[in-house]
Amino acid sequence: MLLVGAEVASFHSPWSAEDSLRELALLAETAGLDVVGQIFQRLDQPAPKFFIGPGKVKEVAALCEQLGAGLVIFDDELSPAQTRNLEEELQVGVLDRTALILDIFAQHARTHEGRLQVELAQYQYLLPRLRRQWTHLERQAGTGGGTSAGGVVGLRGPGETQLEIDRRLIDRRIAWLKEQLADVHRHRELYRKRRRQSGVPVVALVGYTNAGKSTLLNALTGADVYTANQLFATLDPTTRQITLPGGQHILLTDTVGFIQKLPTQLVAAFRATLEEINEADLLLHVVDLTHPNAQEHAQTVEATLKELGVDQRPTLTVLNKVDLMAGVAASDVGHLVADMGLPGDFVAVSAQQGWGLDELRARIETALAEAMVTLAVLIPYQRNDLVSLWHRRGVVEREEYVNEGTHILGRIPRALAGQFIPYQNDK
Ligand code: GTP
Repeated sequence: MLLVGAEVASFHSPWSAEDSLRELALLAETAGLDVVGQIFQRLDQPAPKFFIGPGKVKEVAALCEQLGAGLVIFDDELSPAQTRNLEEELQVGVLDRTALILDIFAQHARTHEGRLQVELAQYQYLLPRLRRQWTHLERQAGTGGGTSAGGVVGLRGPGETQLEIDRRLIDRRIAWLKEQLADVHRHRELYRKRRRQSGVPVVALVGYTNAGKSTLLNALTGADVYTANQLFATLDPTTRQITLPGGQHILLTDTVGFIQKLPTQLVAAFRATLEEINEADLLLHVVDLTHPNAQEHAQTVEATLKELGVDQRPTLTVLNKVDLMAGVAASDVGHLVADMGLPGDFVAVSAQQGWGLDELRARIETALAEAMVTLAVLIPYQRNDLVSLWHRRGVVEREEYVNEGTHILGRIPRALAGQFIPYQNDK
């Protein structure tokens, strides 16, 4: 299988095509594919017909021939038409990064909800590509192996019976999946409501895939959460209770790892996991400082948090895997962190060796105390801007509309509390 990458100037990505391709190769290996070669191009804009230029397509064709590659994977999401054009031109199967990530997600989803989410994302991806993908899947069927959740886009055929279903059936399946997920979300919302009423603070682990979030959750809780040196080992949020040195109970929740070019379908499909982030009083941004692309990882995580509207959430940066940095002076670590644009008040840990965990617990305690204040307010309707500010930046525990305005009880970042103090109302 051959990888094709492009560095597109108009995308303004911090990633170089080479680094991004290296990551794509890891994704391909995680999906169980053999990478035989790679090729990339610098472009100002993606070309409408093939994404890459026509001359480059010829080079890809020649390389496929030379290496005997029967499959080409593009590092960017291709439109259905681009995929079709490329397949016709190259006469080999063509997949994109999104299909590959969907495949990995399908292999790793373990809970009922995770499986539903992946299946929905797969069908949404498949639908506009149906005609092309059909023959492609038929060709792949029988060669794939693997019986991951709900049939896999592109790599593993979804099986005989699914091959025969038509667009109308897929539409029906999508509607059914959405209903099921709505049900799961209702349950989850009820659970959250109870959790909110209990007033227990929520701390969410966020970070690039493979940064060590699950290992850290395990180390802090003694829980046996699945960890693996694989991209996207964690797909379903896992929440555990831990006790801080001062005796306070908190909930610590693991979330799906981020990755650059995270397909939009997946961001939507994993809303549930991401809702956990939205509920959190504090985020722990776990960074694997030993990764050569640590800086790009951190930037990608920050951009994704921004996309989700939670970039202003109180955040503590946790540098993980420091056991691999033995011999690096603390001051050098400080420089590295500053060069990466990360805050200087980080905590360094080794989740695997259990180093730095006491300090981390203590820092979580302090950060939580500083992060949010609990307030009850009555905001007049003329100040609905403040109500939406609270929704965006705080946690709403109870909300009620009365004649004079909106009653809100909940938590708001300390930095914003000043704006709400004039409307404080403890009734
Ligand atoms: P996703 O599920 O992809 O989001 O990954 P994650 O961030 O949950 O990472 P995970 O905890 O699964 O760890 C990824 C890999 O890093 C595993 O092989 C871990 O054993 C390894 N790892 C985690 N923490 C450390 C650490 O402190 N030191 C070292 N050397 N390896 C670690």
